[in-house]
Amino acid sequence: MKLTALPIVFGVALATKPTYVKTIASVPTAAASGYNAAPSGHPWIAPGPNDFRGPCPMLNTLANHGFLPHDGKNITQNITINALGSALNFNESLATLMFQMATIANPEPNATFFTLDQLNVHNVLEHDASLSRSDAYFGNNHIFNETVFSETLKYWTAPILDANMIANSKVARQVTSRATNPNYTFTSRMNDFSLGEVIAPFVAFGDVQAAKVNRTLVEYWIRNERLPTELGWSKQTVAITLDTISHLVGIMTNATLLQTTGTPVVGKRADLHAGVGF
Ligand code: HEM
Repeated sequence: MKLTALPIVFGVALATKPTYVKTIASVPTAAASGYNAAPSGHPWIAPGPNDFRGPCPMLNTLANHGFLPHDGKNITQNITINALGSALNFNESLATLMFQMATIANPEPNATFFTLDQLNVHNVLEHDASLSRSDAYFGNNHIFNETVFSETLKYWTAPILDANMIANSKVARQVTSRATNPNYTFTSRMNDFSLGEVIAPFVAFGDVQAAKVNRTLVEYWIRNERLPTELGWSKQTVAITLDTISHLVGIMTNATLLQTTGTPVVGKRADLHAGVGF
């Protein structure tokens, strides 16, 4: 299947206006609700030596909890729909689109499944400048990397993360990558994919309307590849749809432009910069 044959699920911005979910006030904190080690019926079990894992912290998480096959293999469309629906309340059509994107990574023609290690192939879906993984040029491109993640965390400057903080970390990782990695690759398609990834914390753990999320939940999840149930989190009560994703991608796209609103100061200096002010 050709990459261009499908919409980029996390990367498309549609004009439709969605209905939304939790407010940030309802995002649980560590102090909220009782201890609950894992989603009911889905204990967290660390991957074994023969289990496949990939560059996606969420798919790894879902495999660790057994929403996806714990060995990370033979992930079919039905399995993806059930996993994303029951663990994160994604609706079926969104989960289906995401599965179709994932099969791009399976080199077999007309593949009906993918495995987590197929996602590790560099520059297919996996790309440079990740928030928590090293560039392939420097070594392992799919295991959580503390050094890389600590650069990301420098930009997550408050307990409640907003789009600007996430955007700052995304842009900073790209700047570092381009400045240090002679093989730096980041096509516009990859940027669309990346925008979809970096909104994921809002989608899974936060307020999707306001684009806010509790930093503690996100850090815990990325470091442990474990759902933060024991910190009081539970899945979204309103289904996540393509509209939800489009709304958040729009916000994140604007945030990555690093532009502010407001009127520029007009005068000779501004004119000089435009080359016409004499
Ligand atoms: C079938 C579904 C999915 C597929 C095929 C998939 C695939 C991928 C791949 C290939 C990457 C690596 C990109 C890179 O090199 O940085 C990635 C990263 C990521 N994914 Fe997923 N993903 C899926 C679902 C999800 C979901 C449901 C979430 C959370 C709601 C999520 C959150 C993330 C995040 C945050 C990253 C960026 C990690 C980083 O930059 O270090 N993904 N995903």
